[in-house]
Amino acid sequence: MFPTKRLEGKNILVGITGGIAAYKSCELIRYLVTQGAHVRAMMTANGEKFISRLTIESLCNYPVYTEMFPEGRYAATHHIELADWAEAVIIIPATANIIGKMANGIGDDFLSTNLLALHCPTVFAPAMNSNMWLNPAVQRNIATLKNWGYGICDPEEGFLAEGYSGVGRLARLEYQVQHLYRAIHPHPESLKGKTVLITAGGTREHIDPVRMLTNRATGKMGFALAWEAFARGAEVILVHGPGSLIPPVEVESHGVVSAAEMFDTVQRHFPRADLFISAAAVADYTPARYSTSKIKKEEQGLTLKLERTRDVLKTMSQQKKAHQRVIGFAVETDNPLENARKKLIDKNLDMIALNNPSEAGAGFGVDTNKVTVMTRDDARELTPGYKLDVAGEIFDRLLGTGEGGRDD
Ligand SMILES: Cc1cc2nc3c(=O)[nH]c(=O)nc-3n(C[C@H](O)[C@H](O)[C@H](O)COP(=O)(O)O)c2cc1C
Repeated sequence: MFPTKRLEGKNILVGITGGIAAYKSCELIRYLVTQGAHVRAMMTANGEKFISRLTIESLCNYPVYTEMFPEGRYAATHHIELADWAEAVIIIPATANIIGKMANGIGDDFLSTNLLALHCPTVFAPAMNSNMWLNPAVQRNIATLKNWGYGICDPEEGFLAEGYSGVGRLARLEYQVQHLYRAIHPHPESLKGKTVLITAGGTREHIDPVRMLTNRATGKMGFALAWEAFARGAEVILVHGPGSLIPPVEVESHGVVSAAEMFDTVQRHFPRADLFISAAAVADYTPARYSTSKIKKEEQGLTLKLERTRDVLKTMSQQKKAHQRVIGFAVETDNPLENARKKLIDKNLDMIALNNPSEAGAGFGVDTNKVTVMTRDDARELTPGYKLDVAGEIFDRLLGTGEGGRDD
């Protein structure tokens, strides 16, 4: 899960309705609290049957709102006070009932009335039995909410509480957060209508059926860029090497293994891209010969002949049309600025993001990065921080949507 500074100090309202997945809202609240968000919750009477108010109050460290007419606490605006406080809302789980009420303007309890009064981005995370989800009435209501601009974090296919598999399981935490991240984004339309092609992770060059050459890249930076592009309204195509990260939802993801596959997949999708960001650590060399059987251990050692792989970034840059921009990443340990500038010019890039993996808090596997972005006439050190926030600043620099760091 990506940590981010963007949730710090944000007022997030979590609405819990009466579904079996209500217990999963705890995990989301926990994540939001650890990111520094102010979290308040409202529950329906049926929601309270599935999870206790005490649990939610303990996690939020704030009383839960449930009643429309609470004894001794009545104020003329009580029914809409949370709606005025919230900067983003997520209904998790969202029952078929609350989706239907919202699509028809019904406010017959505290939660539904507040939803009608809300004037901030709102996400529904539906969870229900597959037959309920596929019911035309529910599908029509979902389509109505989507059409009105509500975020819908679609349920997943999998094992249901009823004991069989189908579509209807609450979307996993990563997807909930991805939607919420988009809901709070300061520039949610800045890539609307654009297609962004991103590569992430390392590649594997097989020597024989059990051995390979690879590198330390995990894909975190590239995946963070994909989250960021999604949050800014882009169509995102993510080409990623093997790894344990969960590909983002509503992103066209293509898993590849070798540098050759990475090249072919990028080549196939590049014509659709307005922006190509190459964050993958693609192998520069691959074994000249693949052995179909395991190479025997010999006393005299083994000499491997390696040959160059095709240069993804340079080739795409050569094919670039006037509307396309190509951005590279450079990992440099020696003379970083000089080498990154050379790469920028040699490969005719529009921008290069330089990081030095030997610096603390930067590089492979970690959640944070320290990046300097360079264009032909500018070099700017971005605020060191979480990869998701660094990804935000990279897009700010590209699109001119923010401060994007300080001048060198
Ligand atoms: C054991 C049980 C589990 C339920 N699970 C769900 C569910 O996952 N999704 C759903 O939409 N409704 C589910 N329901 C039905 C809702 O609780 C019911 O529609 C209720 O009216 C929802 O109220 P609310 O939307 O005000 O919370 C379940 C009911 C029971 C008894």
